[in-house]
Amino acid sequence: MIILDGKATSDKIKLEIAQTVKEIVEKGGKRPHLAAILVGNDGASQTYVGHKERACAQVGFKSTLLRFPQEITQQELLDRIKEINANDDIDGLIVQLPLPSHIDEDAVINAIDPKKDVDGFHPENVGRMMLGLPTFLPATPYGILRLLSEYGIQTKGKHCVIIGRSNIVGRPLANLLSLKDEPGDCTVTICHSRTKNIEYFTRQADIIIAALGSPSFLKGDMVREGAVIVDVGITRIPDETKKAGFRLAGDVDFETVAHKASYITPVPGGVGPMTIVSLMVNTLKAAEGK
Ligand code: GUN
Repeated sequence: MIILDGKATSDKIKLEIAQTVKEIVEKGGKRPHLAAILVGNDGASQTYVGHKERACAQVGFKSTLLRFPQEITQQELLDRIKEINANDDIDGLIVQLPLPSHIDEDAVINAIDPKKDVDGFHPENVGRMMLGLPTFLPATPYGILRLLSEYGIQTKGKHCVIIGRSNIVGRPLANLLSLKDEPGDCTVTICHSRTKNIEYFTRQADIIIAALGSPSFLKGDMVREGAVIVDVGITRIPDETKKAGFRLAGDVDFETVAHKASYITPVPGGVGPMTIVSLMVNTLKAAEGK
């Protein structure tokens, strides 16, 4: 069993990005600039945005965090996005999800200039991804594909079972893995909360991607010997013995699954860092595309 080390892989990619930024700046170019909007005080969202800001600093990007109170109106938020769209210094914009329930997430995502949509969430970019056209790929699916290819894991002709159908992970990943491309060329099955007898599907899988947000959902007896296991879950479990007051739990029961797997991602240190670095890759692309 080989651990798919997302931390080490993302560190390597960050060094490459930092080198590119250095060259841009030496030639008199502008540092790539990522803006992040964070609404409210959700602990996990604050942590994720903090990781994104830190990664920007590590690769030499400029970053701006715009924090708004939970009560911000939708119109106010849309107005601020319009300002950022018009600000030539900002190359990429992300709005951390989820948003408070009085705000229509689709309206917010639609308001982002597709050329600055480094999350790849805008319908125009989702459409381009569907068609296999150049675009910003959503960071988690993009990071997973990169991790698989960095370890030389072939996807062609493999059966990939994805558990979870979110717009951020499950469905874009299913689309990308089914494209006539490398990585891609997979036979893809999407399972979700309404799937009956889920283990019937997971036991046939060459590659399993667990992205449902249910701690330790995937157990050893649901997996065939030699499968590649990718764990997207990062649920916070209250734990008084930890300084933060919680520990992170993946969707995979590592204890029972790891010894059957050929490759497996840990939590933390697997998919998470790959998501962050993919956002950096997209931001560099947005800056270079100008
Ligand atoms: N919330 C959970 N994942 C993501 C992500 O990749 N981007 C944004 N903007 N919000 C998220």
